[in-house]
Amino acid sequence: MIAGDIVNDQPPLTGFALDGSELVCDGVPLSTIARAVGTPVYVYSADTIRQRYRAIDSAFGTYPHAVHYALKANSTLAIVRLLRELGSAVDANSIWEIEVARRAGFVPGDVVFTGVGKSAAELECAVALGVKAINVESAGEMARIDTLAAAGDTRARVAVRINPDIDAQSHPHISTGLKVNKFGVAPAAARALVASLAGRSTLSLVALHVHVGSQITTVEPLRRAAEFVAAAAREVMAQTSIRLEYLDVGGGLGIPYQGGAAVTPRDYVAALVGAVAPTGLPIVVEPGRAIVGPAGALVASVIDVKPRTVDTSFAVIDAGMTELMRPALYGAYHRIEAVAPRQGPEALFEVVGPVCESSDVVGRDRTFRGLEVGDLVAVMDAGAYGSAMASNYNRRPVPPEVMVDGGGWQVIRRRQTVDDMLALES
Ligand code: LLP
Repeated sequence: MIAGDIVNDQPPLTGFALDGSELVCDGVPLSTIARAVGTPVYVYSADTIRQRYRAIDSAFGTYPHAVHYALKANSTLAIVRLLRELGSAVDANSIWEIEVARRAGFVPGDVVFTGVGKSAAELECAVALGVKAINVESAGEMARIDTLAAAGDTRARVAVRINPDIDAQSHPHISTGLKVNKFGVAPAAARALVASLAGRSTLSLVALHVHVGSQITTVEPLRRAAEFVAAAAREVMAQTSIRLEYLDVGGGLGIPYQGGAAVTPRDYVAALVGAVAPTGLPIVVEPGRAIVGPAGALVASVIDVKPRTVDTSFAVIDAGMTELMRPALYGAYHRIEAVAPRQGPEALFEVVGPVCESSDVVGRDRTFRGLEVGDLVAVMDAGAYGSAMASNYNRRPVPPEVMVDGGGWQVIRRRQTVDDMLALES
């Protein structure tokens, strides 16, 4: 780990902000980090993660609840540890995420195990560990868990994920709640599945689960999903002897990538509590992006500038779809800021990555007061689904990650090397 220096003794600005003429993270100039660690580099604000976690957690007030941070958004160990210190639990989508969570200090009772395709080995591991719940996606999966629990002479805690056929009004690639999507069990089949679980010695149905998508920017789909699962719970408790422990309403709360307004944690949680309170059941939420997205930026260097059209230029940066796949994969928008903005006339740039694909565009038609080779830019709101989705395409190394905290900073993941990559090969 590389220890950072204390930059000044003023209370640091939280998150990413222009401090005079340059962009800082919690008071630390991004240029300082880039100079020391090189680019591309992910930089995170610990305080922003704290604030965003607490905003969701505290919005519940006294209503019984548990926040299960969705590890898929970012499972870098130091971030997972920070969430544990804050009192979070986790949502894991693979046994490997469960293992990372355990190494960060979580215990199986902190884990809800989600995911549309859990292998036999993964189910065996989750049953043996005794996680808080396996969120089951099909009757077949329930039967496999049943067999494993019987063989292990144990009782597995399960939740049924119901597909409510609700449109999350998000990007089709990250909408999960329509009946044409691969996720969950259709309501009628869920009803039959749940009824078959009453009085079973190998399976305890502890919850019902819905998750209708990610990057949801209005409260309505989230409210409707919560109302749906609350209605289903009332039905289960009226018609069977099953006593549910909680309702898991999934994740999905979006962030304002373009700036402007977002659904606030307060409005989000108020909608959830309003929908679920009539059941009297505690609420589990699985937020990922809303906690870590705005807490991270991907800092890159301009490595080439060349003309594109008469009035636009290409700015080629040393980060692209290998470091941040979201723009290429979903056409996602991320603000791109100059780390030390120039003073020249405004000009339009197509900010592109170095990868041999025309889809490797980080931002189209972006205005800067000039960009020159060697300038640093920060791709904003990259804390969620950024480093977690990085790849080695073009043999590009996975970038380092830096956490800024308390006026100092440290490398929480070093840059991958070619030796790291080749260590797996023969
Ligand atoms: N729970 C379940 C069951 C999920 O499938 C997901 C996300 C979450 C919780 C967390 O959702 P969040 O609060 O972060 O929206 N790679 C995409 C996002 C994929 C989300 C997958 N599931 C992106 O970069 O936008």
